[in-house]
Amino acid sequence: MDLVKEINRLKKEKNAVILAHYYQVAEIQDIADYVGDSLGLSQKAAETDADMIVFAGVHFMAETAKILNPSKTVVLPDLNAGCSLADSCPPEAFEKFIKAHPNHVVITYVNCSAEIKALSDIVCTSSNALKIVQSIPKETPIIFAPDKNLGRYIINETGRDMLLWDGSCVVHEAFSMDKLIALHQEYPDYKIIAHPESETHILNTATYIGSTSGMINYVKENQDQKFIVATEAGILHKMQQEMPNTELIPAPAKEDNTCACSECHFMKMNTMQKLYDCMLNEAPQIDVNPDIIERALLPIERMLELSK
Ligand code: 13P
Ligand code: SF4
Repeated sequence: MDLVKEINRLKKEKNAVILAHYYQVAEIQDIADYVGDSLGLSQKAAETDADMIVFAGVHFMAETAKILNPSKTVVLPDLNAGCSLADSCPPEAFEKFIKAHPNHVVITYVNCSAEIKALSDIVCTSSNALKIVQSIPKETPIIFAPDKNLGRYIINETGRDMLLWDGSCVVHEAFSMDKLIALHQEYPDYKIIAHPESETHILNTATYIGSTSGMINYVKENQDQKFIVATEAGILHKMQQEMPNTELIPAPAKEDNTCACSECHFMKMNTMQKLYDCMLNEAPQIDVNPDIIERALLPIERMLELSK
């Protein structure tokens, strides 16, 4: 079966829109109607008039799309496509943590479950996190969850003291500092760019730190330069496609990592076959409890409002 042809046929037949994250396999990025970072994807999900949102990303992203546009059918090619960051913050434990620290504004990184969003005052993504934190009055104490690495980065950049949840991303913690230094010694004319989910020692080596879209834009603006890219390796596809003459090397992962570069096994669970199957069967669908939708919507909308 010609999957590209069949997926395009189903797209028309079902009035579907395919939204894909930069970490998806190349074929999925190429067939998507829109490829973006978490913020861009949620903006697209909120404004689409398609009947079906086919979310080629991970569960929390598809869930955010459902919360923003609940009348739409939202399908995810593989329901097991989760996220280590989202898993690191269970709702019951987080609720206790919030109760133990009253009077704090609760800011959560979008990489968390709908239940966690429902417990939050405002959501953020890696592209607007600094702006969101800076929008909170200086004297107001802040809880930031679930990513401690992004949290530390924000603290360093803004000087705000925040209470951090102890969560992290397995992919961005897999970069090897020793190998990165060795690689940079071998290629001294390459600039290191990094995603803020990376650990502080990695971020300290970077000339640019930002979201996936931010990193792509930075490379676009500096096409005469060469880059070592410290984020999930899927991003190299779009970078190379848009900037074919720019030389890029993925940042190396630790010896014990399953992949020589850094791949998110959750993101890579989605395949072209599963994409086709989920469009054909309109399953698996993302369902979110209406009470959770009601409570999670406001903190996401606050973020979108501040991101305009
Ligand atoms: P971005 O919003 O920067 O695309 O990040 C999403 C993500 O899951 C990074 O690991
Ligand atoms: Fe989650 Fe990390 Fe995968 Fe992003 S790369 S989806 S944060 S596990």
